[in-house]
Amino acid sequence: MSELTPENAKVEPLINEAEIKTRIKTMAKEIAPHMEKNVVVVGLLKGAYVFTADLVRELARLGVVPIVDFMVLSSYGKSTESSGTVEVKLDCEEDLSGRQVLLLDDILDSGRTLSFAVDHLEKLGASSVLTAVLLDKPSRRNNSFTADFSGFTIDNLFVVGYGIDFAEHFREHPYVGFVKQ
Ligand code: IMP
Ligand code: MG
Repeated sequence: MSELTPENAKVEPLINEAEIKTRIKTMAKEIAPHMEKNVVVVGLLKGAYVFTADLVRELARLGVVPIVDFMVLSSYGKSTESSGTVEVKLDCEEDLSGRQVLLLDDILDSGRTLSFAVDHLEKLGASSVLTAVLLDKPSRRNNSFTADFSGFTIDNLFVVGYGIDFAEHFREHPYVGFVKQ
């Protein structure tokens, strides 16, 4: 069998655009009551850029006006398996001391990225860190990490679209699909 690449991958729809939109509106309603006035939203690039853009605009409709910042952590690279270690490639710029952070990621998988990111943001002085993910794959968890807010629980599938990539491909899809192995 030939190696799975973005060029030969088949993407099947999993969560459509309307379902994502509805769920993010509801998530914003769940999150808004917990937001402090000077909250900083920190999105993890690149995967969470679409989720961050959509969630922040839904929060704004509910009167939550955060500062938005981003971090880049080490990623999967070209593979579909995590390397296991997490590093900061680009740190956030905002002064976090004494401020609440809402940390956003596309997918909670093994839990390594988010548990590392929460620790890191606390070291930067955040008074509290709440986490929200679009997708959660609990069957893949390597530690006891749970997100405070989660959009959809999914099976152990490799997903793409809505900002999420396979070797930098498929981020532009407005829906979430899975790569057929
Ligand atoms: P964790 O550190 O194992 O929890 O992995 C989280 C990160 O891995 C996410 O930020 C994603 O960027 C990436 N990731 C996990 N699962 C997938 C997937 O199915 N497709 C694409 N990226 C994924
Ligand atoms: Mg990521």
